[in-house]
Amino acid sequence: MRCCRRRPFDRMIAVVVVGVASGLAAARGLAVDAFEQPPISYSDTTPANPVADLSERLRQGEVALRFEETTGYLKDLLASLRVPVSSQTLVFSKTSLQQRFIAPKNPRAIYFNDEVYVGYVRGGDVLEVSVADPQLGTVFYTVDQNPAQPPQFVRQTESCLICHGGSQTRGVPGHIVRSVYASRSGQPVFSAGSYRVDDTTPLADRWGGWYVTGTHGTATHLGNVTYTRRPEPGDERDVSGLNQTQLASRFDAKGYLSAHSDLVALSVLAHQAPAHTVLARASIEVRTALHREATLNRELGEPAGHRWPSTDSIIDSAVDSLVECLLFAEAAALPEPIRGTTPFAEEFVAAGPRDALGRSLRSLELESRLFRYPCSYLIYSASFDALPDELRQRFWQRMDELLGSAVGGENGSSLSPSDSEAIRQILASTKADAALLWSDP
Ligand code: HEC
Repeated sequence: MRCCRRRPFDRMIAVVVVGVASGLAAARGLAVDAFEQPPISYSDTTPANPVADLSERLRQGEVALRFEETTGYLKDLLASLRVPVSSQTLVFSKTSLQQRFIAPKNPRAIYFNDEVYVGYVRGGDVLEVSVADPQLGTVFYTVDQNPAQPPQFVRQTESCLICHGGSQTRGVPGHIVRSVYASRSGQPVFSAGSYRVDDTTPLADRWGGWYVTGTHGTATHLGNVTYTRRPEPGDERDVSGLNQTQLASRFDAKGYLSAHSDLVALSVLAHQAPAHTVLARASIEVRTALHREATLNRELGEPAGHRWPSTDSIIDSAVDSLVECLLFAEAAALPEPIRGTTPFAEEFVAAGPRDALGRSLRSLELESRLFRYPCSYLIYSASFDALPDELRQRFWQRMDELLGSAVGGENGSSLSPSDSEAIRQILASTKADAALLWSDP
């Protein structure tokens, strides 16, 4: 599959490797990535995920993707993968693969659902697709935007891992959300610094190099405007990018599926993409440690299952990072209520699941925090379920220590007793592992 014709893309890789990413590529060349070794064997393992399934169905002729003028295969690809158009966010900084096409007048669109992410650049050579893969962390594909060829997903490894498999993604194949000070051409002003965006990033530091449609009261963000340098504390602030509900004066949205970059979709992306990377890292590190332990035990003649302290500490730290991320432990509060400009929020919440009282981990709060109940819906994901058994068991033990009914208010977590109780009850009726732990007899 990887031998197929993909000439435009190869050209593009040459541009990228010689360009911005060259330093990163060199850095990556020095170390052999642990995820390329057994038991993960990232590049040599056949992926199993929703994109791999669609790719197979496409090959078998069970589905077809229509090519449309300008947007190419985008519309049908999103529909086939059930990725909603309302999830569109727009990024105009030249920070990614097809940077030569990307600019404030031609932003890159990113779409996502709970597992799949799709990148589209108007006039670009390829659609970029990434997916949370339960075994491999994150898997990358391109689809050539070429009507002369039947569409096909081509798995990509090194060409994406240059950026998606190093320091920006915690050393594993993962997702990236960044906030930069982008110039009028879209070039990041690197001397001004940049932010890796996740739940802990305050709104004030987010969305540099991105468009933002939505309202947020007197709170600020860095989106919708360009910079020549890092703003200093005394500088007069350019407020023209704040509380924008449409982008017509900024770029011509012909050739896009939507003219919006919804603030709520952006906020969910800023949770989900980094959280997928945390899940990927926990999975890869713990499976690698368990594999190493089994090998050592064999080589040293120790009984199978002999536990090394180093394995224990790797599992413990994976539990810490999972709990911290999935319970939004260090999440930045919203300074003011936020609202988006598309049906994203409504569609996102509707997907459920819900408990008997109608409560869902997907419920959005949008007043002082993103979610009504601070426990991530990614706890329902295939990536979570595929975590090694031992890791999941210890995760639920820790959850019981933090949220269990015996704990009361003094659980050492940042959760209020009423949040703890609600999360416990919702999980007990929507998640099998939690039902075992917390269902009433
Ligand atoms: C030059 C660095 C670079 C390369 C190479 C790169 N990406 Fe990315 N990618 C980024 C950055 C940075 C983001 C965050 C959004 C942005 O700034 O455009 C991103 C975001 C994405 C997203 C949205 C989900 C997410 O992680 O936030 C997808 C999908 C994606 N990239 C796919 C790919 C694929 C597929 C390849 C390889 C064919 C690839 N990328 C290669 C830098 C890169």
